[in-house]
Amino acid sequence: IHEPQSQDSLLSLSVDSEGLQKQIDELSTLSETPAPSVTRILYSEKDVLARRFIKNLMGLSGLSVREDAVGNIFGRWDGDEPELAPVSTGSHIDAIPYSGKYDGVIGVLGAIEAINVLKRSGFKPKRSLEVIMFTSEEPTRFGISCLGSRLLAGSKELAELLKKTVDSQNISFFDAARFAGYANHLQDLTSVFLEKGSYSAFIELHIEQGPILEEEATSIGVVTAIAAPASIKVDFEGSGGHAGAVLMPMSRNDAGLAAAELALAVEKFVLESGSIDTVGTVGILELHPGAINSIPSKSHLEIDTRDIDEKRRNVVIEKIHQSALSISENRGVKLSEFKIVNQDPPALSDDLITMAMESACQELNLTFRKMISRAYHDSLFMARISPMGMIFIPCYKGYSHKPEEFAAIEDIANGVRVLALTLAKLSLA
Ligand code: GLV
Ligand code: MN
Ligand code: MN
Ligand code: MN
Repeated sequence: IHEPQSQDSLLSLSVDSEGLQKQIDELSTLSETPAPSVTRILYSEKDVLARRFIKNLMGLSGLSVREDAVGNIFGRWDGDEPELAPVSTGSHIDAIPYSGKYDGVIGVLGAIEAINVLKRSGFKPKRSLEVIMFTSEEPTRFGISCLGSRLLAGSKELAELLKKTVDSQNISFFDAARFAGYANHLQDLTSVFLEKGSYSAFIELHIEQGPILEEEATSIGVVTAIAAPASIKVDFEGSGGHAGAVLMPMSRNDAGLAAAELALAVEKFVLESGSIDTVGTVGILELHPGAINSIPSKSHLEIDTRDIDEKRRNVVIEKIHQSALSISENRGVKLSEFKIVNQDPPALSDDLITMAMESACQELNLTFRKMISRAYHDSLFMARISPMGMIFIPCYKGYSHKPEEFAAIEDIANGVRVLALTLAKLSLA
């Protein structure tokens, strides 16, 4: 039996900002590179320590903790009607090389603090509330983005692919997972899959990673859609040879120049779309053997391209493919690989969830605006199995994926309040 729920106490209850900032700072020290940068790679020693840190906090908040075979971590607060589908929230704590300490992190630590806020207010959930820390949102180690949430959402292709996936040191996914204490005696990852309807809602709190909220001095972004991401791996192979002895008019078959030409072509095709929403980046470009006096015999590129319009993004992918083929022909190099690693559709937020977030903002007297997310998030995949919504907070100059990333604790606390109140509303719905 529970008493009539009043959300008034939630409106007054403040977030433990000092404690939350301390946690953010402490987690940032679990990094493979020196401060202010943060690097936390999937299943590394630092990642294992960071996971321990999160599980400990979940325990301190009275959540019951469960982990799946790839290390997605779930902390549950049982509601009065635990047979109903729970409301879930969460994000990731892995960090790409030389990035900052807020991306993903505030959506995990902030979610645990939102639970604390609700508990301190005396709130009793009807639907259970669950905090999720997703494994490897970032593609750093295995080239696969949103690995944990993609699997949760039931990607059979990924469950198969991981059986033969290795990192750049040739360590298999399964060996890496076992190092971190996961996937023991397993080859089959279908146990990670969650059925559609497992959650009544999923909400992710995240820094905007763009400049709009800060420029407009708006407290909260209510995300309506997440742009469609894709990534491609390309390898060229040429003949190599002596940088002094092989003359220019002779056919050099320079794999490095093929890569350079393709990189510039990516920029050209993206600009040709005519839309500000189309973006493309060559974030990895490697030459072999990587000696100043040796013509590159191999080159490797990884290309990230995105758009809010899936078709328009696919046109760019097709142009990149055609260009890779013609560059290979014209330069006499072999296109030994052209692999579309992922080509994901965009995702839309659920109207009822965005409405709940908007009324939470109004009740908390916080300014808000609707916006799209140009970055991808675990929410992109959670949307496949659950109604989804995202809460953005301002960050300094929109900086992200670099050490200068910063969000003020007041803005983070606002996000936590909106999250807590939204979770409360959805728990009672
Ligand atoms: C997420 O990290 C992204 O690259 O959008
Ligand atoms: Mn990121
Ligand atoms: Mn992120
Ligand atoms: Mn390759």
